[in-house]
Amino acid sequence: MIVTSAPGKVILFGEHAVVYDKLGIVSAVDIRCRVEVIPVAGNKIFIKSNKYNSESSFSKKELFTFYYHIKELVRGRKFNDIEEIYKKDKLAPVFFVLASIFNRYGFKGTEIIINSNIPKGLGSSSAVFSALSLAALKILIPNKISKKEVSGFSYQGDIIAHGGHPSGIDNNAVTYGGYLKYRKSEGFEALRGMPRIDLLIVDSGEQSRTSETVSLVRKMRDNNPGFVNPILDSLNKISGRAVKALKFKDMKRLGGFMVSYYKKLRELGVSTGGLDNIIEISLREGALGAKPTGGWGGGCCLILVEDLKRKETIIKKLKKGNFRVFSIKTASEGVKLHTG
Ligand code: PMV
Repeated sequence: MIVTSAPGKVILFGEHAVVYDKLGIVSAVDIRCRVEVIPVAGNKIFIKSNKYNSESSFSKKELFTFYYHIKELVRGRKFNDIEEIYKKDKLAPVFFVLASIFNRYGFKGTEIIINSNIPKGLGSSSAVFSALSLAALKILIPNKISKKEVSGFSYQGDIIAHGGHPSGIDNNAVTYGGYLKYRKSEGFEALRGMPRIDLLIVDSGEQSRTSETVSLVRKMRDNNPGFVNPILDSLNKISGRAVKALKFKDMKRLGGFMVSYYKKLRELGVSTGGLDNIIEISLREGALGAKPTGGWGGGCCLILVEDLKRKETIIKKLKKGNFRVFSIKTASEGVKLHTG
């Protein structure tokens, strides 16, 4: 049996803009998912997952038929069809990651057990894809594994989970860990010497809808580039300034950039009443910064607050509003092999 784990991640700056080759800043966080992969006799894959609350199996033939179907849809840029497949089956990207690996290195009957408590919006899917890729590669090519390949196979999962059009920030964040600076055309750069910070994560209770919001922004940009492109450029500038504030440990400025990012991206219509409410409460009670993270359309917000008394008040007020609140630390370790 192979056991692996991978961290969740927070996109500190750059979500949505990174899809269009703008700057993104991401950090792995200290909540992990765990994947077990057990080789079994026969030509079947079995998956059990607490995250997707489901059990499913595919034969070798079904797996490859599905694989070629998705490849065809990607080639034809049929993003709506990919989104529909994902809506019907949340395990579809997990099967696609496996199929991509088996397509390159040969099929192997396996049983897979996924355990994850990473909330949606904190890279929960990418963490599973990365931990799964490492475990499957450990079975197939034990001595030739590279993080680059693990990240590449994880990206395949995000093709489905992000509606056909992922930026590549998530798979790199959860595979390499720490802080990364990312731009699609240039890849990522590890940001070293950055402070490990505490953030409050507030779950809006609304399902984050990354594939829908990514499609929404894409369609809006196709129809109205004159409106969308300047917003993406502003987001890019904010992210660039935020890296400097983080480097100089200037938390006040960093918080200010979080709020600027929130206000700017909100113009693209991807926020929700729940997210707006969380930001409003947090800033009113003295947080240094607050913004949603990930795909928006629901999911989680990041709150930066240093003063302990203020932190307590914010937590109390948010809990009163029925939001789930917890603390995380940034700059955690990437995907990891535990046994095998
Ligand atoms: O929903 P998440 O945490 O997987 O983040 C999505 C980030 C986007 O920029 C909206 C999409 C992407 O592929 O980068």
